[in-house]
Amino acid sequence: MSDTYLQLDKLTLAYGDTVAVKDLDLSIKKGELVALLGPSGCGKTTTMRSIAGLLNPASGRITLDGADITRISANKRNVGLVFQSYALFPHLTVYENVAFGLRLKGISGQDLDNKVTASIKSVGLASFASRKPGELSGGQQQRVALARSMVMEPKVLLLDEPLSNLDARLRLEMRAELQRVQKETGVTMIFVTHDQIEALALADRIVVMLNGGIEQIGTPEEIYNKPVSAFVADFVGFENVFALDNGKLATSNSRVELSAPAPQAAKGLAWRPRMVILGSGPFQGTVRGTSFAGNVREYLLDTPLGPIKAEVDAGEPSHAIGSTLAFDLPVAAAAPLSRYR
Ligand SMILES: Nc1ncnc2c1ncn2[C@@H]1O[C@H](COP(=O)(O)OP(=O)(O)OP(=O)(O)O)[C@@H](O)[C@H]1O
Ligand SMILES: [Mg+2]
Repeated sequence: MSDTYLQLDKLTLAYGDTVAVKDLDLSIKKGELVALLGPSGCGKTTTMRSIAGLLNPASGRITLDGADITRISANKRNVGLVFQSYALFPHLTVYENVAFGLRLKGISGQDLDNKVTASIKSVGLASFASRKPGELSGGQQQRVALARSMVMEPKVLLLDEPLSNLDARLRLEMRAELQRVQKETGVTMIFVTHDQIEALALADRIVVMLNGGIEQIGTPEEIYNKPVSAFVADFVGFENVFALDNGKLATSNSRVELSAPAPQAAKGLAWRPRMVILGSGPFQGTVRGTSFAGNVREYLLDTPLGPIKAEVDAGEPSHAIGSTLAFDLPVAAAAPLSRYR
């Protein structure tokens, strides 16, 4: 692809004998904001470390802006890295923290001042330049870490769970901030999170990883609405996931006919709780649990298909625990999965 900026080619990454990432292929365009999403241990940090040059690939290739950087040392790659613990220098001011890397590169005088000032301003900290990290909130420190990386004008900026130790409100603010800085500067960004909401809100594209490989790559809309595998479906909230066997729902001990034919190629079907129709349909379930969640009510049903999660408007008549209900899993609403596992 001609507009590929960063390319990972059959990248395999290992710690000694432990393979953490296997045969990973990924193409990223210039200026894209890509989120790596996935459960703990799936290889997100490992992938970032290899792009930054902190981990040598066991095999495969990394190209950036037309150059093979697989064997280039970390300090020559022009890749910025912001980790969850952002380790600012506590004895230096915000200004000096941001200036540090530029000074190492031999930049000084007016040039240095222009860059540092602009960078501090871009993260909204202009009036904090002479403070030390200990005199800043967690979110402000995080922004210093961001400015410190941005000022180096990296070709790619890698952010490994940069928001994970912020409280909910600050996270939202920083999310918006990150998005703004990224759009303003056009820097290519890869952002690691295990928070799917964060990934959906921020990213141009999402890469869902599992067990050292890629499960699915797509826009937030694609990942959210068209998961391709059982894992991604469950991960984005399709809590009722079934394999198909010759067009029938496969449960642990039976094959169940659906109310309409399943799509030919589908290996599985998945429904969000709110896609389940309660009160009519060919199936029967017993209410095992129910909970009120503001504008909706959630039900957990015991059914011959296994447990089913359903969600209806809180205004609907409620069903007591122990009552038996008809329900349907409407095929038209389901996400067809091209891979069950
Ligand atoms: N230094 C190391 N030595 C040996 N194995 C490691 C090392 N670092 C990570 N691993 C292993 O590699 C795999 C991938 O780890 P990685 O840190 O990339 O996961 P992650 O997706 O970033 O997870 P998390 O969401 O918990 O940060 C895990 O199985 C982990 O145990
Ligand atoms: Mg990690």
